[in-house]
Amino acid sequence: MSQFDLVSEKYINHFGTKPSLLTHGPGRVNLIGDHTDYNDGFVLPAAINFGTDIAASKRDDKIIRVLAVDCNNETVEFSLDNIEFNNEKMWVNYIGGTLQVLTKQYTDIVGADLVVTGNVPQGAGLSSSASFEIAILKTFAQLNDIDLGGVQAALLGQQAENNFVGCNCGIMDQLISALGKKNNAMLLDCRTLTYQHAPIPNSMALLIVNSNVKRGLVDSEYNTRRQQCEEVARYFNQPALRDVTLEQLLSAQDKLTPDLVRRAKHVITENARTESALIALQNNDMIKMSELMAESHISLKDDFAVTTPEMDYLVELIGSELGNKGGVRMTGGGFGGCVVALTPKDLVDDIKLKISQNYQQKTGLKEHIYVCVASDGAFNR
Ligand code: GLA
Repeated sequence: MSQFDLVSEKYINHFGTKPSLLTHGPGRVNLIGDHTDYNDGFVLPAAINFGTDIAASKRDDKIIRVLAVDCNNETVEFSLDNIEFNNEKMWVNYIGGTLQVLTKQYTDIVGADLVVTGNVPQGAGLSSSASFEIAILKTFAQLNDIDLGGVQAALLGQQAENNFVGCNCGIMDQLISALGKKNNAMLLDCRTLTYQHAPIPNSMALLIVNSNVKRGLVDSEYNTRRQQCEEVARYFNQPALRDVTLEQLLSAQDKLTPDLVRRAKHVITENARTESALIALQNNDMIKMSELMAESHISLKDDFAVTTPEMDYLVELIGSELGNKGGVRMTGGGFGGCVVALTPKDLVDDIKLKISQNYQQKTGLKEHIYVCVASDGAFNR
């Protein structure tokens, strides 16, 4: 049964009528460019064929009623006139936060009955939260005939996450969930919010392996990393690390703590790698992609310190099968979650076998493997 069929059926069972609308917000995988978005830098993600699906109908009052299929069929009811943080049911805050920012701009928005389901693994670095926010925005834009653009939706989703949910994330996840393009990754310039497509060659698969080391971005050191980056930018009197060169950083290294130098070095070099990766992908140059993704992982491990031994091990295992025919690295915020490999389709089975023969034995954790395709974003369908 497709996600849309499932969510419709649940809607009919719960509300007793057919939904008037079905929407989808995809998760994403980032091929390269991590912890660069909040430094006004570059990222190269793709939207994936896993996401959040919503069945909805408009109401004629301001009430929101929701059934969350994946959260033990929990339900919630609240009014758009009184949106409060929910301490018991965290999932509600993605809806509440998004609707709070949306209703500030569009005061006439009416209530709705919703059923939500999703298949993006949570806490895995594949943006289950952005996919949820973008699906909610798409739903309310359509129900209320609002002509919301993808960039605008992304900014609203990010605002909800920053100001309501409490994670100081950048703009990458919401942008790619809104704007993604089938069979393409996208170089997003997180300062200008402009983008360029990078085709994923037909012979290559997006293999995502979840280390199953669970991570919570709000609780993690994510916000600390961001503060460290901002501190270095301030030292150089610049708006963001995007504006600091490696030469400038190295010439000032005695004035900064070793940790701050390492964090900033990651961001500056990662931006350069991400721009090179766009060209490598456009030229179908997998040897270069392989190099860039390997360097990115090492930088995230040694300089930005956001990988875990389990993720490092997965990268090592996959890399040993892949050689320079594709690339592999951690993806997303880090501190657990997934690694991504851009791999020739005909190596997928060998890689899966290698992981299943080694990973659990060494780490005590069972991996989950997803073979994904780059998909359209919610505002690009
Ligand atoms: C999380 C955040 C993004 C980005 C990545 C790291 O996914 O939500 O904004 O900062 O981490 O690249």
